[in-house]
Amino acid sequence: MRMNDIIEKKKEGKPLTRSEIHYFVKGYTNNVIPDYQVSALAMAVWFNKMTKEETAILTDEMAKSGDMLDLSSLGDKTVDKHSSGGIGDKTTLIVAPIVAAAGCIVAKMSGKGLGFTGGTIDKLESIPNFNTSVSPNDFIKQAKNIGIVLAGQTGNMAPCDKKLYALRDVTATVDCMPLIASSIMSKKLAAGSKNIVLDVKCGSGAFMKTKEDATELAKEMVQIGRSCNRNVSAFITDMSTPLGFAIGNSLEVKEAVDVLKGKNVKDLKEISIELSAEMISLSLKKSKDDSIRIANEMIDSGKAYQKFLEMVMAQGGDISYIEDTSLFLKDVCSYEVKANREGFIYKLDALTLGKISVVLGAGRNVKTDKIDYNAGILLLKKRGDRVHKNETVMVLYSSNKDKLNDVKEMVVSSFEIRDIEPVNKPLILNYIN
Ligand code: URA
Repeated sequence: MRMNDIIEKKKEGKPLTRSEIHYFVKGYTNNVIPDYQVSALAMAVWFNKMTKEETAILTDEMAKSGDMLDLSSLGDKTVDKHSSGGIGDKTTLIVAPIVAAAGCIVAKMSGKGLGFTGGTIDKLESIPNFNTSVSPNDFIKQAKNIGIVLAGQTGNMAPCDKKLYALRDVTATVDCMPLIASSIMSKKLAAGSKNIVLDVKCGSGAFMKTKEDATELAKEMVQIGRSCNRNVSAFITDMSTPLGFAIGNSLEVKEAVDVLKGKNVKDLKEISIELSAEMISLSLKKSKDDSIRIANEMIDSGKAYQKFLEMVMAQGGDISYIEDTSLFLKDVCSYEVKANREGFIYKLDALTLGKISVVLGAGRNVKTDKIDYNAGILLLKKRGDRVHKNETVMVLYSSNKDKLNDVKEMVVSSFEIRDIEPVNKPLILNYIN
C-alpha cells in the first residue's frame, strides 16, 4: 500500500477501506508516514468528508493506536466529558471536580488548544508545576484514589490523535466533522469511561457554525459511543459569544476557581451545572432534578473546590496559585479597550476574540509555539450589557507589549454597540440522548 494512493483516492472523493485507514493510522503513529502526507490527506478529507462508516473506522483505529485503558475495575461510575471546542470554555475545570465530589469517577483525557479555541491541557499547565503527562498506571491509580484525574494524551493513549490534532491545528483542517468526531471519540474510547457527556459547541466561535451541523456531529459521536457500549449523551450549546468573562489560560483557571468558590458567573455556571447534572444522572442513575440539586450542593458546600485542590496537589501543581489566584498574571502588559459611544453591547464575537487571544500568545500558530499563559482577554462587559462612552469593555493581556499593538485594529471589529438591546439567546440549543 502507498500513502500517495490513499491521498489520491480521498482527493477523488472515494471512501477509504479499513485496511487503508489502518495503514495510515499505524504509519503516522510510528513516524513512518510524514506530516506532509497526512496534512494532504487531512485536507482531502476536509474537502470530501468521510462516510459514517469511515468515521467510525477512523475512530476505532485511532483509539487502538495506543493503550486502551480498562476502567472496569472502577465500576460503572466512571464518567468523562468533552467539549468540541470554544472560546472561554473552561467548563471542564468546574464540572470535573463537581461530579468527582458527588461520587463519580472522572478519568478524563483532554487536548491542547486547537485553532482559535482553547484547550484544557494548556489551561491546566498554566498552574505552575501541574503535570498533565500522567502514565496509564498513575491515571488509573489517581482516579481510584481521589476520583478525578485530568491528563493529556500521555503514556500512549490515542497517540495518533495526539499527532493529528497538533497537525490539524496548524493546517486549517480542524473544522471538519469526521475529523472532529474521530478525534474526540477516539480519546473518549481509549480513556475507558463508561459514561460520556458531550458538549458540542455551535456558532462563530465553534467549529460547527450552525445548529444543524452541530446536531449532526453530536448524533454521530453519540452513535459511535453507543456502538462501543458506552452511555453517551450530548448538548448543543451556543458559542457565538464567549463563555464567561475570561479568555486565555491563567485567566480562565482564575475564573473557574472563582466559580468553584461560589461566584455566580451566569452563563458559565448555568452550563457547568447542566453538564455536571447530566454526568451525575448518567453515572449515578439519579433523576435530573436530584442531579441538579447535587451539583449545586457540591459548589455551595465547598466540596467541589476542595476536590479541585486535591487534584492539583495530586498532579504536582502549586496550590498556592489556586488558594490565591492573584499570583497569576504577574509581569504582564495590558491594554484597556474603551467604548466609543454609549449603548448596548449588541455583538461580542467569539471567533474574533478567539483569534485575538491566539495573536496575544494564548494559542499556537505552529506546532512548536510556546504558550504565553498570561495572554488573553478579560471581558468587563458581555453581550446585552449597557456601556457609557469611554467605559472599558475589555482588557487585553500579553507578556509581549508588541502583541497588544498588533491586535488593536482587530479588536475594534470584535464588538458592536447599538442603541437597542440584543435579543437574549438561549445557551442550550439542543439535547441528544
Ligand atoms: N476537540 C478534540 O479533541 N478534537 C477536535 O477535533 C475538536 C475538539
